[in-house]
Amino acid sequence: MRQALSNRLVGVKIGVVLTGSHCTVGEVLPFIQELKDEGGQIFPIFSYTVDHTDSRFYQADDLKDQIGLVTAEPIINTIVGAEPIGPKKLLDVVLIAPATGNTIAKLANGIVDTPALMAAKAQLRNGRPIVIAVSTNDGLGINARNIGMLLNMKNIYFVPFRQDNPAEKANSLVADMELITDTVVYALQGKQIQPVLLGPL
Ligand SMILES: Cc1cc2nc3c(=O)[nH]c(=O)nc-3n(C[C@H](O)[C@H](O)[C@H](O)COP(=O)(O)O)c2cc1C
Repeated sequence: MRQALSNRLVGVKIGVVLTGSHCTVGEVLPFIQELKDEGGQIFPIFSYTVDHTDSRFYQADDLKDQIGLVTAEPIINTIVGAEPIGPKKLLDVVLIAPATGNTIAKLANGIVDTPALMAAKAQLRNGRPIVIAVSTNDGLGINARNIGMLLNMKNIYFVPFRQDNPAEKANSLVADMELITDTVVYALQGKQIQPVLLGPL
């Protein structure tokens, strides 16, 4: 991980939404710490899937413990819990990392049936930024149109992404999680960090 600590996010309230790209969650955790190290205040939000799923990548309870090491804020894991983000204007920016194809598809089509999506809807209600770090095997397949819609949507920004394994998973897209903090800093200024499309590793 790069050295952060230039205090670019002092006082910024950041909703960090985890969705069920379970293999990528571990990769995102150091960058949640990085957001905090830059001065951000972290408000964790879990999709139902992340809240409940034990997989070969992690146990849900262990993940909650790890998040507890980064922030003392309680994990928002219900739609009722996420709803006040709208009327109370709780968050300056909402980061969805990793963002599943499922959550991206629903967000692009106005479906709100998880705490993750409720947080996103509440944020858009306030005209405030959302940052998406995609991680899905169907990014250039059935979800290409949804990513395209979100790329063209006001107040939505993307962590730059690439095809992670074009030879074996031609439709798979994954964000470069190392660029999460920079993308958040740009999004808070109303700008999409560029280039949004990265070349192969
Ligand atoms: C072990 C495991 C790994 C998964 N990895 C991904 C992934 O990388 N990307 C993705 O879009 N979906 C992935 N899924 C599927 C999602 O978890 C599933 O679509 C779920 O409904 C997502 O819900 P959410 O978007 O509300 O978190 C995975 C599922 C499992 C069980």
